[in-house]
Amino acid sequence: MHQPVKKNMNIFLPTDENLLRAVSVLKSGGVISFPTETVYGLGADAFNPKAVACIFEVKKRPFFDPLIVHIASLEQINMLVSDVPASMNRLAERFWPGPLTLIFKKKESVPDIVTAGLDTVAVRMPSHPVARRLIELLGSPIAAPSANRFGSISPTEAIHVREQLGNSVDMIIDGGPCEIGIESTIIKINGDSAELLRPGGVPLELLSEELAAIHVIDQTSMVEAPGQLPYHYSPVTPVKLVNRISSDDIEHANYAFLFFKKPELPIDDRRAFILSQSGDLREAATNLFSALHRLDKIGADVILAEHVPGHGLGRAIMDRLLKASNKSKRGAV
Ligand code: TXA
Ligand code: MG
Repeated sequence: MHQPVKKNMNIFLPTDENLLRAVSVLKSGGVISFPTETVYGLGADAFNPKAVACIFEVKKRPFFDPLIVHIASLEQINMLVSDVPASMNRLAERFWPGPLTLIFKKKESVPDIVTAGLDTVAVRMPSHPVARRLIELLGSPIAAPSANRFGSISPTEAIHVREQLGNSVDMIIDGGPCEIGIESTIIKINGDSAELLRPGGVPLELLSEELAAIHVIDQTSMVEAPGQLPYHYSPVTPVKLVNRISSDDIEHANYAFLFFKKPELPIDDRRAFILSQSGDLREAATNLFSALHRLDKIGADVILAEHVPGHGLGRAIMDRLLKASNKSKRGAV
């Protein structure tokens, strides 16, 4: 039958039977969590406004923060958008399926609750086979933000979803750890100009091969995508960003440490995490949110996190670390 992995838990393996069950939950207006290659999503039928409202409720997310709509095939984009500009087509062809979200003018029929009343809709075609299968079986796009509580660390494993959202979600489909581990890059194109609304899984350098100029939006001044708040992705423990963790720092018994690569310092594995032994940015991105989840649990006074190089996926990692540390400065969310 539909056996959860463990008793009293709403975590299910992605068997055909469980995916069919998830689809019937979606069809009846429920909310499920599912794996994507970036982070776990919290999905509902994008054309069911009541179900989409449940996403906001479960996440405690303000209604002014629009959602990304996930599709499984290029045909499905026609359900959301009337006109796909040539430049967007090029990006979709090269980067879909994958960690890129594109902003389009929306069709009337896309519910306002999905787009927070904006006349645009964010669309992404994930590459994760479980996400794709779910969308295909539903036969319709799935609206899904990351499956964390608003402002908290994004989930890259089913257990992270369970820890944050508990039984408030009908089913959590466990597809194992997310391969990319950091959210999609969000790009908006207006005529000749392209804007990077959020750095993510597709590095800016690759997008630059397809677009003449990309304007990197300063997210502290962003009005259009209110979800891009300057504080986000935050553990409960305050996060402090430093260039390098020093030998003085590691003397603090109540600190936790997030190293980019293997340091030349003696470290205590119980309160330190190395994102990538060799300093590989891809591996660092994959491990980032898991590391924050883990370090947040040890009850440290502060998590000292090291800068990573700002190129490639490093741009997205630094964005998430900065936002995590901003919350600590503001004491907000
Ligand atoms: O990798 C991802 O993108 C993951 C997986 C689940 O697909 N999703 C994700 O969703 O990160 P979420 O809701 O956590 O972040 C989506 C961001 C929000 O900050 C929101 O403001 C922005 O996308 N967004 C959504 N619709 C938009 C629109 N029409 N214009 C500008 N920004 C938009
Ligand atoms: Mg999110």
